[in-house]
Amino acid sequence: MPETAPEGLTGLAFGGDYNPEQWPEEVWQEDVRLMREAGVTMVSVGIFSWALLEPSPGTYDFGWLDRVLDLLHDNGVRVDLGTPTVVPPVWFYRAHPEALPVAADGTRYEFGSRGAICHSNADYRAAAANITTKLAERYADHPALALWHVHNEYGVPVSACYCDSCAAHFRRWLARTYGTVEAVNEAWGTAFWGQRYTGFEQINPPRTTPTVGNPGQALDYRRFADVTLRENFTAERDILHRLSPGIPVTTNFMTALSQCDSIDYWAWGREVDLVSNDHYLITDGRRTHVNLAMAADLTRSVAGGAPWLLLEHSTSGVNWQPRNPAKAPGQMARNSLAHVARGSDGAMFFQWRQSRRGAEKFHSSMVPHAGTDSRVWREVVELGAHLDALGAVRGTRTVADAAVLWDWHSWWAQGLQWRPSEDHDPRERADAFYEALYDHHLTVDFAHPEADLSAYPLVVVPALYLTTEAAGANLRRYVERGGTLVVSYFSGIVDEHDAVHDGPYPGALRDVLGLTVEEFSPLLAGEGVRLTGPDEAELTGDVWTEFVVPRGAETVWTYADGLTAGRPAVTRYRLGEGTAWYVSTRLDARGLGVLLGRAADDAGVALRTELPRDVEVVRREGESGTYVFVINHSSSDAKVPLDGNGAEVLTGDRAAGGLVVPAGAVRAVRLDGR
Ligand code: GAL
Repeated sequence: MPETAPEGLTGLAFGGDYNPEQWPEEVWQEDVRLMREAGVTMVSVGIFSWALLEPSPGTYDFGWLDRVLDLLHDNGVRVDLGTPTVVPPVWFYRAHPEALPVAADGTRYEFGSRGAICHSNADYRAAAANITTKLAERYADHPALALWHVHNEYGVPVSACYCDSCAAHFRRWLARTYGTVEAVNEAWGTAFWGQRYTGFEQINPPRTTPTVGNPGQALDYRRFADVTLRENFTAERDILHRLSPGIPVTTNFMTALSQCDSIDYWAWGREVDLVSNDHYLITDGRRTHVNLAMAADLTRSVAGGAPWLLLEHSTSGVNWQPRNPAKAPGQMARNSLAHVARGSDGAMFFQWRQSRRGAEKFHSSMVPHAGTDSRVWREVVELGAHLDALGAVRGTRTVADAAVLWDWHSWWAQGLQWRPSEDHDPRERADAFYEALYDHHLTVDFAHPEADLSAYPLVVVPALYLTTEAAGANLRRYVERGGTLVVSYFSGIVDEHDAVHDGPYPGALRDVLGLTVEEFSPLLAGEGVRLTGPDEAELTGDVWTEFVVPRGAETVWTYADGLTAGRPAVTRYRLGEGTAWYVSTRLDARGLGVLLGRAADDAGVALRTELPRDVEVVRREGESGTYVFVINHSSSDAKVPLDGNGAEVLTGDRAAGGLVVPAGAVRAVRLDGR
């Protein structure tokens, strides 16, 4: 993956989605004046403009977009230009009604929202290629052009279509992937419930069935749907590369699982020139800054550690949750700069000017309905100044202390039906383990289970139900060579086809963990278990227990009650030069903290116990220097030690051996001499 930045940008990107077509042209003049006032450096334009650009088949109106791009250029604002292929015009659908996607139950969606596309549809693909070609031909040499923005958030709101063209496309994909229908039968285990196929033409998408359908088929359909979306992206990207060489191409990801779980971003990260991401706070009572940090770390990891770009977040509340609180004063800057600390070379928003009409009129923006005499606008202007001051951070890389394994195929498999307990929520485990690492002030990279892990002293596996043989061997090698591994229950269970690995659980991880699991024993709702262990430290678990049989591993915590009383609950296995921990129940936050503290000890990873809770300290390093970002999410001032002296970029103060970061504030110190 090439490491690319938007063309012509010298500092960090700052701006947002700009939808001038929603406003009379007089407003555009005010827009650019305000953009200059706020220090906007780049805006995303044209993402939803197909109906205006091609009002009827083959008739184009680029005049307004020419004027917008010229105006932005005259005002020093770079352009991230959208291909508008996420919303084809209504005339297209009336001519090609079968391009509207179909749900698993056969419902065909209607025009009138957005993202209603069957991505297998040949007419859609041809029309998308055509409008992309026209845009590239017209704007490839426009001096404002910095970046191409293909489509919008592939995978939402429709992650898969179940229509007849998708059925045909799925069969071709199966034939390519498996070669013979016998191989499909074998992979999906169709001997079960008499589901055997004798020809590809008999196979359909996993449409609604009376009870649970074939899990292998469902899993493969998720893969197929992801590949189909990627085919659409690469087709547009290739046109842009050919007609607009030198301008990087991106498409905005939504890496947070809670926001889009249908895309294998490891695969997509390899296809884009620049990884970009959208992130919105989910205000469900949990610590939103932890969820944000996790999404940012995941995005950086998908970018292979290279700088990426936050293409959308919100200045204040969103409008699509049941309850949409405003951001607290200062929260926007903490959010934006936390993304920057974790590798984003900028902070962009949805959207520049708050709409008066349409579905998103109550979504916050940079220029709110309240106008410029408002807290949001003042904070936007201040953020612009901060990003400007931080310009030299661009291109530096965030430094991580540990890795968490992450695989979208495993997420898809974990979402299949009929599991030992519906209370086991693998996402909750991933969040909880991440949060425990965050609370130990460790910066986390995410890694694919088959990736080279040798750079990490500590690797955590919160929930990896689907683990290939290759991943199992990789983890074994990692530990043998000195790594410290922590694995949570119900990991290593099935292969890539959702077939249980041969032999006792956890098939792919038995060797590295030095144990087997005889049986799962999920707990009933509200039930808990106590675990007794070293130093009188009693832990508690719920949701899940297992009958663990040590085969070389030592027992560190033992179940004190429940069906598994007296049996190992948490184990530790010395293998080669390294150590592998296993936890067979759902530990609470305190328990995870204790467990990860011990594992960090094994790994020789120093925990920053001197730092208060909710004070985030993250480093970016590169040619322009070493920057220590401190984000104080707490309501008390925080004293933060520094290993060195430096200049604080946002206030201009000196920091010698440490600094005090006021409650709710952000600081970024450029360390001297590095
Ligand atoms: C994003 C989308 C934007 C806007 C935003 C609102 O998912 O890309 O167009 O809808 O959400 O939060």
